[in-house]
Amino acid sequence: MITLLRILFYIVLGLPALVIVLHTIIRIVRHFHKFPMPQFMANAIDNPLRRKIQPPDKTPARHGIEPGMIVLEVGPGNGTYTVATARRVGNRGKVVTIDIEPKMIERVTRRAQAEGIDNIEAKVADVYDLPFEDGFFDAIYMIAVIGEIPEPDRAMREFYRVLSSSGTLAFSEFLPDPDYPRAKTLIRKATAAGFRLQKKLGNVFYYTLILEKEEREC
Ligand SMILES: C[S@@+](CC[C@H](N)C(=O)[O-])C[C@H]1O[C@@H](n2cnc3c(N)ncnc32)[C@H](O)[C@@H]1O
Repeated sequence: MITLLRILFYIVLGLPALVIVLHTIIRIVRHFHKFPMPQFMANAIDNPLRRKIQPPDKTPARHGIEPGMIVLEVGPGNGTYTVATARRVGNRGKVVTIDIEPKMIERVTRRAQAEGIDNIEAKVADVYDLPFEDGFFDAIYMIAVIGEIPEPDRAMREFYRVLSSSGTLAFSEFLPDPDYPRAKTLIRKATAAGFRLQKKLGNVFYYTLILEKEEREC
């Protein structure tokens, strides 16, 4: 009986410690070697616990998305938040979503068709070279993406270019993500690219930053 209790004790203590150690190792590896999340992981991160923490129907409003907006989403994964955002912008609006992984784009396209949503345009593109005109979007958002990008400063300059002068840029990040960036780091990088913080929502486990364009002197 005592041996059994001892084993249970080690499991209860050991499992969280193992998770923390594994998470730290993955974080260190990802810090030095960044690459896009493999597409087979898209279902795994789109799970009921995640949807509880980050409810798809509430997230677009949290990102400052309003009906009628033209929105860019970077890195849609499974497309759960893309579909929710398309519903929020409605018929007068549109969601353009880009991903470097063609398989992710196929997933979103299939999902939009299956759900009868026709205001989503999904295309393969890289954040460093966005195939859009200057000032095209009313809002840009991404969830758990910027930490995967090797040169976030370069990406931020592209976001600045394709965002309208009154547009907003939103980042949502949550802690289990091995690429989770600190809010302070993201704000510093965005500020260097010409943005200023409009508001910060949430807490250290799950935060959202809303940034706007700083006026540039000519
Ligand atoms: C961790 S997943 C997040 C997926 C989704 N936003 C979510 O929260 O469920 C990151 C996504 O960013 C995409 N991505 C990574 N690097 C990219 C790049 N340079 N340009 C465009 N998309 C990129 C990945 O392919 C992947 O779909």
